[in-house]
Amino acid sequence: MRVFVAGGTGAVGRRLVPLLVSRGHTVVALTRDPARVGALAGMGAEPARADALDRTGLTAAVGRARPDVVVHELTALAGVSDFRHLDRSFAATNRLRVHGTDHLMAAAAAAGARRIVAQSYAGWPYERRGGMVKTEDDALDPNPPRGARETVAAIRHLEEAVLGAPPGIEGVVLRYGGLYGPGTSLAPGPSGEQVEAVRRRRFPIVGGGHGVWSFLHVDDAALATALAVERGAPGIYNVVDDDPAPVSEWLPALAREIGAPPPRRVPTWVGRALGGGWVAMVMTEARGASNARARRELGWTPLHPSWRSGFAALARGGG
Ligand SMILES: NC(=O)c1ccc[n+]([C@@H]2O[C@H](COP(=O)([O-])OP(=O)(O)OC[C@H]3O[C@@H](n4cnc5c(N)ncnc54)[C@H](OP(=O)(O)O)[C@@H]3O)[C@@H](O)[C@H]2O)c1
Repeated sequence: MRVFVAGGTGAVGRRLVPLLVSRGHTVVALTRDPARVGALAGMGAEPARADALDRTGLTAAVGRARPDVVVHELTALAGVSDFRHLDRSFAATNRLRVHGTDHLMAAAAAAGARRIVAQSYAGWPYERRGGMVKTEDDALDPNPPRGARETVAAIRHLEEAVLGAPPGIEGVVLRYGGLYGPGTSLAPGPSGEQVEAVRRRRFPIVGGGHGVWSFLHVDDAALATALAVERGAPGIYNVVDDDPAPVSEWLPALAREIGAPPPRRVPTWVGRALGGGWVAMVMTEARGASNARARRELGWTPLHPSWRSGFAALARGGG
């Protein structure tokens, strides 16, 4: 198939593009940056250049690609470290999730694509009531903490736009877990801000650390996305590992794996005062997600079924 990957140079895109090529697809991958064109060609893709916020330019780039399937991996999260003001930190990503999605949907329709597969997020956007592990049928949080509302609204917009794709286009939403592995902020090395924060004891457990997180290795994100390009009914899929776990469990385990001292513990009110409502929420109330639908309907089996072995591999440098 002909596949257009918007976000081909990103953490997921860099794993996805060569995988799609190896599975026999013709890939056209988007970047704004002339310096990244060579890297895309090196991965076996045909590079395309446009800004996703420029509707005319994007429509022309997608039109030239004549894709059967369009993949939406557009985010702007590298270097985000201010979680106290989430909406401010995510503003560029939120613009991409709202306007970038609208432009990409319109471009895909104009180009005659028949399927669009888009990145969303599983975990803390789910409603903070009921079970600690959510399925795709559970509701998103109707009342997110102040400071995170625009971010949840942008996620909702993306999902509604993709699921409400015009006739003739199948919309697939992949709700990824918290990404780790090469190119993400949960990796060893200079880009791994979260690992660095754990190493420096700047990532405390807030309250009882009862918030549940679901993780996903970037290679599993790429594999599930390649499968969703090829098969599966339209709709939403949680793409997370098999092992949702409370902060009180995974954070000390990560610290041990990387040889850091145990994380500090602070009461919820201190966490809220220092980090804001969103930080307190993800530490104490967040929900994890079940991958049963993705396993069943996409035929996806995670290469890294648990963050436990995944974090250990990262720490050994084999992640
Ligand atoms: N999930 C979270 O909550 C979170 C929070 C903070 C950090 N992080 C971490 O940060 C890492 C990097 O995140 P990232 O979002 O910067 O991903 P990334 O891995 O850098 O990918 C962003 C992609 O979107 C493209 N893009 C962005 N804006 C665009 C635009 N206007 N037009 C066209 N393309 C555009 C980029 O292309 P070009 O730049 O080549 O044009 C690039 O391919 C993630 O893997 C994650 O681990 C995640």
